[in-house]
Amino acid sequence: MAQRTDTRPSRIATEADLLAAVRGRTFDDFLLAPQFSVLSKRDPTTIDLASRLSEHITLGRPIVSANMDTVTRAPMAIVQAEEGGLGVIDRGFRPGDIAPQVREVEAVKRTQHGVIPDPYTIAPDATLEAAAAAMDRSGVGTLVVVDAERRLIGVLTERDLRFVTSPGPGGSIDVASRMTPRDRLVTHMGLLSIEEAAQLMVDRKIKKLPLVDERDGLLGLITAKDILKQRHLPHATRDAQGRLRVGAAIGATGDYLERAAELIRVGVDVIVIDIAHGHSTVMERALEQFRARFGDVELIAGNVGTGDGARFLADRGVNGIKVGIGPGGGCTTRITTSFGVPQVQALVESRIATGGRIPLIADGGIRRDGGLIQALLFGGDTVMLGSAFAGTLETPGDVIQKSVVLPEAQRVVQVPFKVLRGMASLGAIKDRLDVEDVDELDLAALGAEGMETSVPARGSARPVIQDMIKHLCSSISYGGAHALDELRRRFWQNPGAYLIPLTAASRAESYDR
Ligand code: XMP
Repeated sequence: MAQRTDTRPSRIATEADLLAAVRGRTFDDFLLAPQFSVLSKRDPTTIDLASRLSEHITLGRPIVSANMDTVTRAPMAIVQAEEGGLGVIDRGFRPGDIAPQVREVEAVKRTQHGVIPDPYTIAPDATLEAAAAAMDRSGVGTLVVVDAERRLIGVLTERDLRFVTSPGPGGSIDVASRMTPRDRLVTHMGLLSIEEAAQLMVDRKIKKLPLVDERDGLLGLITAKDILKQRHLPHATRDAQGRLRVGAAIGATGDYLERAAELIRVGVDVIVIDIAHGHSTVMERALEQFRARFGDVELIAGNVGTGDGARFLADRGVNGIKVGIGPGGGCTTRITTSFGVPQVQALVESRIATGGRIPLIADGGIRRDGGLIQALLFGGDTVMLGSAFAGTLETPGDVIQKSVVLPEAQRVVQVPFKVLRGMASLGAIKDRLDVEDVDELDLAALGAEGMETSVPARGSARPVIQDMIKHLCSSISYGGAHALDELRRRFWQNPGAYLIPLTAASRAESYDR
């Protein structure tokens, strides 16, 4: 931030000036002034969008899907990580029922591995029916055959099951008789890099490479399919072992520590303690207990909407902070309580209060792609989105057919919809409650702060993300920079050169379509 002695013709010369300029403001209150550009805005490949999600995790693309039970489960988290962002699995499962959330995290960690450290296995004397059922259940086409000591005996693939006719009642074929046995397998002793594995697979013309130790104990599996996928997804967010990264949300009371322990056990990359009001004693206690039990596990906490709130979390050793009180599309907090902070004000205050020390996630309120760059300049290191992905193929929930009247055509058509609901909506709260009969509940007493809506069902979230990336790159080009980081630096050196506060007329000209 420039000092008062700065001679540039900006009316925003100090942090106090900037805070005053954004007080009570949100995204649609501003435009950004185009700057001299040295890039063709159509060339996103040359623009670096890397940004920190948290102190120790950097994303190639600064996009995070929200921990909402109608937005992020494994399929959404997978597509987000493949495209360079990250998904946070919601905690919308009943208290005490930790396994379903753990399974979602496992499903992400098992996708696309460079090395699968814990491949699905089967015993040699299991039946082919059992093998087929295991493949069906796990969604994988390869089972490593191991003995009771987990020593490699062979490999069984989907192909080995094709055209096998049942021997009839009483008889069954075992895995050992159809697998490729150990002596015909190419294996590698110990671990190796993906590049070395790819070379070995080309040289030996194989598609699966089991990794073993000196006693033939199974260490892992590398498949050609995973290597190919890895190459087609150059921006994917991966951990050190080549597995996709994923986050998971927990609360601050109840089973949250047991939940965290299980999520950490299966390799979750970051835990998000997510409560409506993160600047609170409940959060303070939860952070203390979390650190006491799990040490330096990567931890994001929120939500807060003020500088004091952000500093409160930063001072308590979190690795990332989620900022946003009430801007979310499915959120009614501001309507029901009159508390909240316009999101641009919240981001600027939080960034100034934390001095860029701890990465911030700008959570909620992005209703058009142009809002992404605003959130990322005003203070967000990354952006969390819920409604923007609503209705896509990867969101959880069934497609429901609804009758819609087309007045011009004077007829009724059936249109597919999916549900989008705030995590504090009545429906989401009821589903999280551990009660037998929800009809008996005093619903009013639940104090809902979220809405439930239905949105048109549509295709994959992948093109939605890819469009966001293209628009973000265009924004950076209009801003006269080569990289998100560079534009952010320039913006904070001289916000006055970028910020154009809008009048009602210029806002209508800009955003009403
Ligand atoms: P968007 O605008 O992208 O926002 O849909 C997603 C964020 O909204 C928040 N959220 C809620 N906030 N009551 C709230 O006060 C709710 O029921 C609710 N559900 C989601 C959340 O921060 C999410 O990431």
